[in-house]
Amino acid sequence: MSTTTDADLRTPAEVSTALPAAQQPVWPDRSALDAAVAELGTYPPLVFAGECDVLRDRMAAASRGEAFVLQGGDCAETFAGASADNIKNRIKTILQMAAVLTYGASVPVVKVGRMAGQFAKPRSSNTETREGVTLPAYRGDMVNDFEFTQAARTPDPQRLVKAYHASSATLNLVRAFTTGGFADLRHVHDWNRGFVANAANQRYEKLARDIDKAMKFMAACGADFEAMRTTEFFAAHEALVLDYERPLTRVDSRTGDLYDTSGHFIWVGERTRDLGGAHLDFVSKVHNPIGVKVSANAQLDDLLRMIDLVDPERTPGRLTFITRMGAGRIREALPAIVEKVTASGAAVTWVCDPMHGNTFESASGYKTRDFDDVVDEVRGFFEVHQGLGTVPGGLHVELTGNDVTECLGGSEKILDADLSQRYESVCDPRLNHQQSLELAFLVAEMLGRD
Ligand code: PEP
Ligand code: CO
Repeated sequence: MSTTTDADLRTPAEVSTALPAAQQPVWPDRSALDAAVAELGTYPPLVFAGECDVLRDRMAAASRGEAFVLQGGDCAETFAGASADNIKNRIKTILQMAAVLTYGASVPVVKVGRMAGQFAKPRSSNTETREGVTLPAYRGDMVNDFEFTQAARTPDPQRLVKAYHASSATLNLVRAFTTGGFADLRHVHDWNRGFVANAANQRYEKLARDIDKAMKFMAACGADFEAMRTTEFFAAHEALVLDYERPLTRVDSRTGDLYDTSGHFIWVGERTRDLGGAHLDFVSKVHNPIGVKVSANAQLDDLLRMIDLVDPERTPGRLTFITRMGAGRIREALPAIVEKVTASGAAVTWVCDPMHGNTFESASGYKTRDFDDVVDEVRGFFEVHQGLGTVPGGLHVELTGNDVTECLGGSEKILDADLSQRYESVCDPRLNHQQSLELAFLVAEMLGRD
């Protein structure tokens, strides 16, 4: 499928509000901020309204069980990490997972990168103290630098501009890799054969063989593999720093509607989804498909009011609840929420984030997650939806295509003592390439069981 373009998106519209905005950087220099925001307002859109509309339709299909969504990428992208190899490896991992999930779910997989804009992070504290020195917390490369010095940690609004350019370069590669032949299903399948050829992954060999047979069957039937050389791929990030999102919001001249052109799908995080806050107000005004993170502590009434605010017309695909409850709580906390939201007549898409409710500090002091907890939360997600007769619409994971050691377990059996070998995330721990594929095989088994 192609990218729809709207060459005639017009000048930036004001999406301002007096409502309080949580988790915003404290910019030290107001005029430098104004200059950066003004500069962003002159730049072309990164994505187009028509593409966002296509993704809304895809999310709607997922809400009905006619598609399955896979959202994945870094917890926090960095400028230094926006290299061709890193981006290629991440896309490759997502494509490999998607191929396996497509087979398991027997429906199209909607591929969405947590990328080309995921440069800002909410933090539990405004400051960080190390050995008696207190500095501003790292809020993502869009705001400040990870290095622990006063100069690096001081928010710099020119970083908003740099984030735009890094996102633009990333999207350029994403579009090239997904339309230029790299995404050819036959290659992707060969890569997956390489994965199961590894002795540690033998338990997935049967599924890989079944996919092999399906590919041969398709070939024998004369399937048009040339048409499968390209794939649709969308970009998503948390719409956190409003000084970045607002100037990239534009009017679609076809309809007069506003779109946040910084990414196709934007979400509001667990820490910024207050009903009286600026973030929900902002996303309620733009027409992109919207996600909201939902923890086990979410109040049902708040969620129902949120639906009225963000999706008053009950447009299928408009609103996605990304649940992130933790393996230990999902089975107890999710059913009432899904039941009541469904009873309200809302058509939300349910996506499972099995990462953010399962973070803990390891004995050696690393922020980590256990692969088994991740799998168990996904299993719980499917069990709950199966029990209620509702639709599990997709997965949202923090992953990298590289061979890092950030999450425990998986078939490589990463231990606490291994975490120091290659812990590269500047924020949350990500599944590495192997763990990501393993998750896809396990989820494909869960999906195939229905
Ligand atoms: C995230 O997705 O990186 C994140 C911060 O998630 P949450 O808002 O669910 O905590
Ligand atoms: Co995270």
